[in-house]
Amino acid sequence: MKIKNICCIGAGYVGGPTMAIIAQKNPKINVTVVDINEKRIAAWNDENVENIPIYEPGLSEVVKEARGRNLFFSTDVDAAIDKAEMIFISVNTPTKTYGIGKGMAADLKWIELCARQIARVAKDDKIVIEKSTLPVRTAAALKDILDNTGNGVKYQILSNPEFLAEGTAVEDLQAPDRVLIGGDIDTEEGKAAMQALVNIYAKWVPQESILTTNVWSSELSKLTANAFLAQRVSSINALSELCEHTGADVNEVARAIGMDSRIGPKFLKSSVGFGGSCFQKDILNLVYIAKSFGLNEVADYWEQVIIMNDHQKRRFAENIVKTLYNTVSGKKIAFLGWAFKKDTNDTRESAAIYVADYLLNEQAEVVVYDPKVTEEQIYADLDYLGTRSEEENRKLVTVIKDPYEVCQDSHAIAVLTEWDEFKDYDWKKIYDCMLKPAFVFDGRNLLDTRELTKTGFTVSSIGSPLVRKTKEERKSAQVS
Ligand code: UDX
Ligand code: ADP
Repeated sequence: MKIKNICCIGAGYVGGPTMAIIAQKNPKINVTVVDINEKRIAAWNDENVENIPIYEPGLSEVVKEARGRNLFFSTDVDAAIDKAEMIFISVNTPTKTYGIGKGMAADLKWIELCARQIARVAKDDKIVIEKSTLPVRTAAALKDILDNTGNGVKYQILSNPEFLAEGTAVEDLQAPDRVLIGGDIDTEEGKAAMQALVNIYAKWVPQESILTTNVWSSELSKLTANAFLAQRVSSINALSELCEHTGADVNEVARAIGMDSRIGPKFLKSSVGFGGSCFQKDILNLVYIAKSFGLNEVADYWEQVIIMNDHQKRRFAENIVKTLYNTVSGKKIAFLGWAFKKDTNDTRESAAIYVADYLLNEQAEVVVYDPKVTEEQIYADLDYLGTRSEEENRKLVTVIKDPYEVCQDSHAIAVLTEWDEFKDYDWKKIYDCMLKPAFVFDGRNLLDTRELTKTGFTVSSIGSPLVRKTKEERKSAQVS
């Protein structure tokens, strides 16, 4: 099957970067990314390519190369569906906030809307690809809707989960460990559809890295990959607490175990807790599926990864209060970082949101600096929690675009995101402008504790005991 036009529904963190690379590598195929969010599409089309709505290192260059050539962004969803032989569904699938499966199952409302829209518009056969993370068996539901509400046209449903990590999306897309394509391997039509998608990736991905499986294996693999990764983070975070009590250093432990080639060094960085749009949502999906089959032990096993993560976020905030003499009421706490990880402007499920919420409940004043996250987004994240009114959030939280100004007259600094630039700050200058004793709570194990204590700070880093400056260090900090 020859593919000339691709449509992608959803111009978000997955759809945008993925389609940009597909278009870059397949210059003869027209790729149209559509979204109902007009503001988002306008930003993707902004003349200044630096203003695209998603920050990812290297992405603006790719967009610059392909946009207007064979990469298009539009709000005309129907027209793009009509024209395309292949449609990617890349809309959001957040955890349900209501009804059955509330707080656990994926909300497939948007997926279903897409399916119905495709069914209404399509006049010829289509390959429909689920790109968003979806619970197992969603493809079957999609097929059901398409086959029963369509205009009699034939659909092939494929699952092609995205494994890109935000912050490294372009790298991950350009050199993926593997591309996974699930489809109906028992029929000729199914195999042909899979081959059509294989051909698109084969333009830049080695054939041996493109795996084809049945649809359900593909769907489950996505959830499993994220569950395994998140489990590693929760495992090392569980040990971080033990390290703080025993005097072991979690970085040293991670290094020592990571050198065992069976364990490997990645995803062993202890932190204030994982965030992002995938880990929690995917594990909750897994738990929900397991429960729905009555597999309670399986469900409990995976749920513990989330319980540990919630504990880590709360523990970090509690430690700030405890260390600041059991009260932060009226105290100014400077947040360095709000994004859920470095090199992205995405804040979904960021630990910073929950730490801020906890400290605000303790009547702290929170001042935030993040190099890429907008003020609007930070307030939206807090408003979404619903803990306090919009007015209160704006009264208690200030967003400042200058890191030194953020720290001015603060009692403590909390490092919530591992942005590289934080390491290069003039920490002496920051120390001098803070109230004393000055504290740093390093939720990312990012900064050099020894250097900071030499400057005069008291440092509490995840996974190591609290380090106070020595008398000599305090003296020399005063002298200099
Ligand atoms: C994840 C998967 O990595 C990716 O394959 C999938 O497609 C989507 O979900 P993402 O959420 O973008 O990607 O980021 P990831 O790098 O996995 O980090 C998730 C969270 O874990 C972040 O908050 C990060 O800071 C945290 N983390 C990661 C740690 O705390 N320690 C680590 O060692 C690694
Ligand atoms: P992800 O990280 O999965 O890419 P995002 O929330 O960043 O998630 O992106 C999903 C996008 O899908 C949003 O921009 C949203 O407006 C869009 N979207 C959701 N439903 C539809 C729909 N029915 N038609 C077109 N776009 C949609």
